[in-house]
Amino acid sequence: MSRIAYVNGRYVPHADAAVHVEDRGYQFADGVYEVVLVYDGAMVDELPHLDRLDRSLGELRIAQPMTRPALRSVMRELLRRNRIRTGLIYMQVTRGVARRDHPFPKNAEPALVMTAKRIALPAAAAIENGVKVISIRDIRWERCDIKTVALLPNVLGKQQAREAGAHEAWQVDDAGCVTEGTSTNAWIVTKDGELITRSANQSILNGITRLSLLRLAEQEGLRFVERSFTLEEAKQAREAFISSATAFVTPVTQIDDAVIGNGKAGSVGLGLRRAYLDYAAGAGRTA
Ligand code: PDD
Repeated sequence: MSRIAYVNGRYVPHADAAVHVEDRGYQFADGVYEVVLVYDGAMVDELPHLDRLDRSLGELRIAQPMTRPALRSVMRELLRRNRIRTGLIYMQVTRGVARRDHPFPKNAEPALVMTAKRIALPAAAAIENGVKVISIRDIRWERCDIKTVALLPNVLGKQQAREAGAHEAWQVDDAGCVTEGTSTNAWIVTKDGELITRSANQSILNGITRLSLLRLAEQEGLRFVERSFTLEEAKQAREAFISSATAFVTPVTQIDDAVIGNGKAGSVGLGLRRAYLDYAAGAGRTA
């Protein structure tokens, strides 16, 4: 079955899905995006993702491409046409098409594209073994809270990780503290069992998965705190993991050369992963 994409009002074969060369997303990375998990036939945390999309658009003063009910119906139609039960929806809104010039164009309409793809969940053994991350300097701008398509530092960081045989790169600020991964939020569990993730300000993307995990941690009665942690503290941690709409909770068992805990996924991370998957199959769904 061929994939279908949504491009500015039309459902088109994925292979033919294209935007104009003077789309400002293409020219200036002048746009924002969201990635929404689809789990067992339903979207997970759909409304928080759409709220964050609205926020990103507002911060960049890009108009909404359509009303929320219209957007939600495009998302559903795309899933239906692609017959996706477990996968991802990617949506991107740019400031639109205009003659290339840096200031905001006067008459451009925001452009919306959406794609959907299937994903396979990792095998239990892969989760148990965890992944390796490397540390890199955080060279990004001061508005990492906006989910913009300007992802060059993230792309370079992820590539550096891959070339080092690692899954992710944790970005480290000038104070020696971990901000986040290149496409995930970063978490540790200290030796005395406290769960830590950086508090959300302009130096990280406030992950929707991160927010759900904090709520689940609270419900599970875990001790947690939102604060910065240094790379050294992370290397001494009992557990570490990453979170995102695509990674859920993925245990980290090595940071640079340091083995975390006993080199296997830790119980807090595994417990939160289970809790998140239950949430994705239950309270987090929208039909
Ligand atoms: N990435 N931090 C960064 C820099 C991200 O790009 C992402 C998401 C996250 C986690 O956010 P959420 O829990 O809302 O997915 C944190 C998406 C999945 C991506 O770029 O593909």
